[in-house]
Order: sequence, then structure tokens, then C-alpha cells
Amino acid sequence: MEAAVEAARQGTFFSRNEFLIRRLHSLTGLIPVGAYMCIHLLTNASTLGGPEMFQKNVDLIHSLGPALPIVEWTFIFLPLIFHAVVGVVIIRSGNANLSSYYYVGNVRYTLQRVTAWIALLFIAYHVFHMHGWFHNAWWLENVANNELGGHQFDPHKASSTAAIALASPLKKLFYGIGVISCVYHLANGLWTMGITWGVWTTAAAQRRANWICGAFGIALTVVGLAALVGVTTTDVDKAEAYEKVRHEMNLEEQQRAEAEAKRLKSLSPAEREAEAKAQAEKEAKAAETKAH
Ligand code: HEM
Repeated sequence: MEAAVEAARQGTFFSRNEFLIRRLHSLTGLIPVGAYMCIHLLTNASTLGGPEMFQKNVDLIHSLGPALPIVEWTFIFLPLIFHAVVGVVIIRSGNANLSSYYYVGNVRYTLQRVTAWIALLFIAYHVFHMHGWFHNAWWLENVANNELGGHQFDPHKASSTAAIALASPLKKLFYGIGVISCVYHLANGLWTMGITWGVWTTAAAQRRANWICGAFGIALTVVGLAALVGVTTTDVDKAEAYEKVRHEMNLEEQQRAEAEAKRLKSLSPAEREAEAKAQAEKEAKAAETKAH
């Protein structure tokens, strides 16, 4: 017993904390990484609804403003990096999660690992291609620039820039393979998770779970590939015209709001109070007229 404790103490950080690390690895695969992936694929599928719909969804995400990078790093990138690093350690150690994979065929076990590598490669490329990895001015100018094909997506011109970024058939093929791999990895991972966490323990429950996870995987594949159809059918000229008008309207609205804020700031407290009172009276009168 003492020898075993001593051996564990001398083992690697991973072997000493394997239980906890594996549980965290499993958990991050579902929340937030898996959950985010579902939302992301659904948002992208809205390219099928035309530039108005896709732009509205993208604007909703970007309404977080300066908080967006913090949210992205805390809830998406860091958990994903953690899951990927631990995943690589698990693959390289050849140490299978036998409690889960005892029940699964060899093919599914191997595919879970193959899709992990494809997901790693695809996500690294995709985030560089669309987002540029970091939004630092020097980085965007010198590394994630047009020459190297990075940072191609402009959230103010969502549909047109997504369609242009994915215009090449080779890129579409790579994205298709990447999306299908990520979806397989999540759907099959959901099934192994159920065993890791003791949700489906009997053979009958695991068979039922096969159907549920399979149906989820097929539905998410359709959603994921719908985005590729959406960008392929986007009319770039029409999308650009719509985005230009919308951008100008937003600018005008912003300028008006800034001018109003400046005007309010220049008022004395008494003037501000009088204005608020007049406004309240006006609203009350309008409500009264409406009631009659
Ligand atoms: C779209 C991104 C990803 C999602 C949504 C995701 C999700 C999941 C889920 C839900 C599981 C099941 C956990 C369990 O059985 O308890 C899992 C397992 C696994 N993931 Fe990921 N993953 C992603 C990316 C990656 C990447 C990039 C790697 C590494 C290169 C990776 C490596 C692994 C490995 C090795 C397993 C199996 C662990 C085992 O057998 O114990 N994953 N993933």
C-alpha cells in the first residue's frame, strides 16, 4: 500500500490528479465547449435566412461590446484549450477511458480520437481564418492579415465577408470535413459521457442512448452543413448593399445619441429637472389621449 502511494506521489501531475482532470475534461467537452458549438452552428445556419437575419444574430453577439473578448476567452477559448491539451495527453498516453470504451466498438473509439485531431486542426485554422486569434492592432496588421488569409470575417458585414471567405470550393470541403468531425466528436462524446458520469449504466439504457446521441448528431450535422449552403447561395453584391445601408443608419443613430448625451451634459441641474418634468407631462398627456 505504502509503495503504491509513493509510486503515485512520484508519478506525473496527470497521473496524480487523473480522476479530477478526466472529469474536468469530460465536463468542458459538454459545457461550455459543446453547448457553444451548438449555438455557433445554429447562428451560422441563419445565413440561409438572408443577410438581414444573419446580421441581426451577429449584432446580438457583438452587442456585448468590449466584454466580448473577455466572454470569448473565459467561456470558449480557455475551456477549449484545456480540453484539447488534456485530450492530446490522453491520446498520447494511450490510456483509454476504459469504463466508457469497454462498451463501445473499436471503430467508435478510434473515430473519437481521429476526430479530436481533425477538430484541433480545423478549429485552430477556422479561428485564425475568421477571427484572427487576437484582436491586437499589431497582430492584425502583421500576422492575421489578408496576405496570410487571417481575420476575414467583419461582424459589420457578416454575410458578405463570410461568403467571400468561403468562396473557394477547397475551403468549403475543409469546413465540411471539420464540421462533421466536430459534430461526430460531440455526439459520440455525449454517449461516452453518459457512462463516465453514470447516466446510462445498463445495456438497454446504453442502446437507447445510442439512438438519442445518433439523432442529435444527425440533426446537428444538418444544421452545421446548412451554413455552408447559406454562404454558397448568398448574393454578395446584394448583401454588401444591405450592409452598407445598415452601417450608415447605425452610424447616424450613434452620432445622434452622442449629440444628445453631450447636450444633456451641458444642461444645469435645474434645466435638466425642468426638461424631465416637461417630458413626463408630455408622456402622461399622450397616454391620456390614447386611453380616450
Ligand atoms: C469542438 C470541439 C470539441 C468538443 C465539443 C468536444 C467534446 C467532447 C466530449 C463531450 C467528450 C466526451 C467526454 C467523456 O467521454 O467523458 C470528448 C472526449 C474527448 N475529446 Fe473532445 N471535444 C472537442 C475538441 C477536442 C479536441 C480539439 C481534442 C484534442 C485534440 C479533443 C480530445 C478528446 C479526447 C481524447 C476525448 C476522449 C477522452 C477519453 O477517452 O477519455 N477534443 N470531447
